[in-house]
Amino acid sequence: MGKLGEIRITGGIPLNGQVAVQGSKNTALPMMAAALLGRGISVLKKCPRIADVFCMEEILQGLGVHSWWEDHDLYLDCRKAERGKNAADGAGKMRSSVILLGAMAGRFGEGSMGYPGGCIIGKRPIDLHLYALRCLGIDAQEGETEIRVSGHPLGGHISFPKKSVGATEQAMLAAALSCEETTIENCAREPEIWWLAKCLTAMGVRIQGAGTGCMHIQGRKSLKPYSMKVPPDRIVAGTYLLAGAATRGRVTLLEPPGGELNTFLELYSKMGGQFQWNSGKLITDSQKVCFPLPYVETGCHPGFPTDLQSPLMAVLAGIPGESAVRETIFEERYGVAEELKRMGAEITVRGDTAYISGKEELTGASVKAGELRGGAALVIAGLSAHGETRIAGCQYIRRGYENICEDITRLGGKAEEEAGEYLYENIRLLEKPE
Ligand code: UD1
Repeated sequence: MGKLGEIRITGGIPLNGQVAVQGSKNTALPMMAAALLGRGISVLKKCPRIADVFCMEEILQGLGVHSWWEDHDLYLDCRKAERGKNAADGAGKMRSSVILLGAMAGRFGEGSMGYPGGCIIGKRPIDLHLYALRCLGIDAQEGETEIRVSGHPLGGHISFPKKSVGATEQAMLAAALSCEETTIENCAREPEIWWLAKCLTAMGVRIQGAGTGCMHIQGRKSLKPYSMKVPPDRIVAGTYLLAGAATRGRVTLLEPPGGELNTFLELYSKMGGQFQWNSGKLITDSQKVCFPLPYVETGCHPGFPTDLQSPLMAVLAGIPGESAVRETIFEERYGVAEELKRMGAEITVRGDTAYISGKEELTGASVKAGELRGGAALVIAGLSAHGETRIAGCQYIRRGYENICEDITRLGGKAEEEAGEYLYENIRLLEKPE
């Protein structure tokens, strides 16, 4: 095992400038699963070149999908997809592997998948996924090392007891190749659901109500491949704006996600941040950021996204005064608090709430990322801190950020990544077929 890379940051420099936002990880992954439903070559344009996408690509390759990249466009040739070998190995490296179960049932009438992995931020059970599959007449069995599905999806009525982004995607993917109608009640309303609906619609599925709490899906016996641009990543956008806030800089996002940032921008304004939309750009000015946030809670969309909770905490740690952040989605999402404390942050976690006594300035330190968004929070803290910060475990950051150091450098900050072992470096990038 080689040495894992480290990010080195020299803090205290306000970020100023323009940066483009990469394609959305959480939209690209279900789109990749959807490709399996079409008997043809689907194209994800502007697909982020990140470890989780490579991992999903590898799992699809195990199912006979031929894939290749042309710059940032990912081609998935699913004409010869077959049930293939068990995709247990890759599955454990990420969360989204589980949504392939519904797609496999639709395409092959059977399939199996190892238990999903992903960031350690809470329990992350899969009961709602299995419930959705079973509502559609699919037999889903949990074995010791894998989950097996059999039976082609029928239509059905799903009424989720709790909102789940992944389980809603699972249900949509399974329902897409059923000729009967499916109703999904209490479904997730995150933008990623809307984008998946757009993708499935391009493949020939009829969907009503995407983005609301209830969806009606009329699937088809066979679906076309799609060619679609992956929308910009709202969490990466939020991360870069928070990096601007932490350093009291002025960050402009090129091609930002539109209305998806509304709740975030409300909080940003409350901290003293100023923003304007101009010619498709989002221009922010954080020079007056100085107000703590007495109470913020994460929530399902349109609430404040849990994926930006740790990055926000890193900013609040550097705003003098008392802030409190309550996490309502993933109970163990405060792992990064201990690392931030090494940098001088004063944070007390009690139950589901983190109480933050903001300081004038954090201090650079050697810290360790334990998961993706916690890692991003450490980058933000490092940028605002006095002195040098070294962040180990940056393979987690690469799961979701394509070029975080290059982007920071483009904004005038000082961040470099020591070359290290890539988590999925053995990914085969196949050649385009004749
Ligand atoms: C997705 C996102 C993740 C984001 C999260 C919430 C992807 C790849 N990941 O994760 O970045 O933080 O949405 O916006 O899109 N739950 C159950 N049973 C289940 C499934 C989920 O109890 O079968 C619970 C979870 O433990 C959690 C809540 O439901 O408490 C929401 O999780 P969910 O929306 O499913 O998150 P993911 O789809 O895993």
